[in-house]
Amino acid sequence: MIMVKPVRLALLGCGTVGAEVVRLLHEQAADLTARVGAPIEIAGIAVRRMGRDRGPLPVDPALFTTDALGLVKRDDVDVVVEVVGGIEPARTWLVEALRSGKSAVTANKALLAEDGGALHDAAAEGRADLYYEASVAGAIPLLRPLRESLHGDRITRVTGIVNGTTNFILSAMDATGAGFTEALEEATELGYAEADPTADVEGFDAAAKAAILASLAFHSRVTAADVHREGITEVTAADVASAKAMGCTIKLLCIASRGPDSTGADSVSVRVHPAMIPRTHPLASVGDAFNAVFVEAEAAGQLMFYGRGAGGSPTASAVLGDIVAVARNRLSGVRAPSESVYADLPVRPMGEAVTRYHISLDVADRAGVLATVAGVFAKHDVSIATVRQSGRADDASLVVVTHGAPEAALAATVEQLRGLDIVRSIASVLRVEGGA
Ligand SMILES: NC(=O)c1ccc[n+]([C@@H]2O[C@H](COP(=O)([O-])OP(=O)(O)OC[C@H]3O[C@@H](n4cnc5c(N)ncnc54)[C@H](OP(=O)(O)O)[C@@H]3O)[C@@H](O)[C@H]2O)c1
Repeated sequence: MIMVKPVRLALLGCGTVGAEVVRLLHEQAADLTARVGAPIEIAGIAVRRMGRDRGPLPVDPALFTTDALGLVKRDDVDVVVEVVGGIEPARTWLVEALRSGKSAVTANKALLAEDGGALHDAAAEGRADLYYEASVAGAIPLLRPLRESLHGDRITRVTGIVNGTTNFILSAMDATGAGFTEALEEATELGYAEADPTADVEGFDAAAKAAILASLAFHSRVTAADVHREGITEVTAADVASAKAMGCTIKLLCIASRGPDSTGADSVSVRVHPAMIPRTHPLASVGDAFNAVFVEAEAAGQLMFYGRGAGGSPTASAVLGDIVAVARNRLSGVRAPSESVYADLPVRPMGEAVTRYHISLDVADRAGVLATVAGVFAKHDVSIATVRQSGRADDASLVVVTHGAPEAALAATVEQLRGLDIVRSIASVLRVEGGA
């Protein structure tokens, strides 16, 4: 019998995701060996705290080390799996691995969005594979379809719910009428929100994922700094009620689209913000902490990817899929498709993003108010689709929904409305996405 050499992994990190990777590698060892054509072995596991209680892990304790870089450099390591997170030292480890020809699998969205170029360059230099399916939308197979299956098509738009914490909060607000703080408390109690929820509720996590998706969809390097970002902390129970009245729900969306800029040149727009979407839109029914991504491509039409976007086990599933892919490639002496950035499209400014808006104004109860407000919209070339007037005296309000307009025109409209003595306050300005 011919003995095939095992594929040896350096596992960097053994926390929520890493521990599940260890467990799945053990539980599925026989199947993985059959699928890859060689056993997959763990050469070492780098952690920060040797003494940490990790529960019963099916692995030899002698494999643990705190010297991650030393482990990466070992001659008996073929593949480096990074599930630590953060920019440094993860970047140094991965660049070292890739440059020296070792394949890398990572779930590190923050690093990929901030400096994915450094990793791709190192992979090209070392002729090594770089896979990162788990970095966006956890278990959902999404990056491979964008990177391979849709490479014969032209993607025009990617719209996603890519953060489970904020989706849980907004779904709870929609279901119960609760305010943001109350819904966040519930999310924290149930373990859907971290003790410091800033990265989620302020949209940083979703912005990192938006950058990764836009880079893949539009064959261009897009970083987190290119993404216009707004979180959900300002979304009120009244906004959610207004959305309901319009047959909509509010979701934190990441939207990456391709189209002409103000000069007509091809460009991309990448943004993360809360938006109303019609309840009939496929993304509206994505509840709790689930993720879903809606892809529009010229030939394929509309595609939707749905599933668990986080959690140790779902994320480890995506990491394992990548491990199998890179292990197979090594055995057959081939490389995955390398980074595709030939289009090199510029990111257009947020001011040029065209969307519809829902604006709630508290106004004076006087004749002519409606005409004055409508005049301000017209002055900035923002066309009104519907107006709803309600209440009397101190309670008088207007809800205006516009047709598609550039962000800059809407901002100028809102600025001027704020200066009118008949406008007591602007209660909310929300974008409206997705048809209807
Ligand atoms: N958790 C999810 O649901 C999820 C979903 C998608 C993507 N991800 C990504 O997956 C990665 C890991 O997330 P996680 O939730 O598993 O994190 P985690 O539970 O905090 O685990 C991090 C691991 O890294 C180790 N570590 C930290 N600093 C280190 C250092 N300087 N040297 C060696 N080891 C170090 C820690 O060691 P100790 O154990 O000794 O502390 C721990 O084992 C992140 O990039 C995250 O964004 C996570």
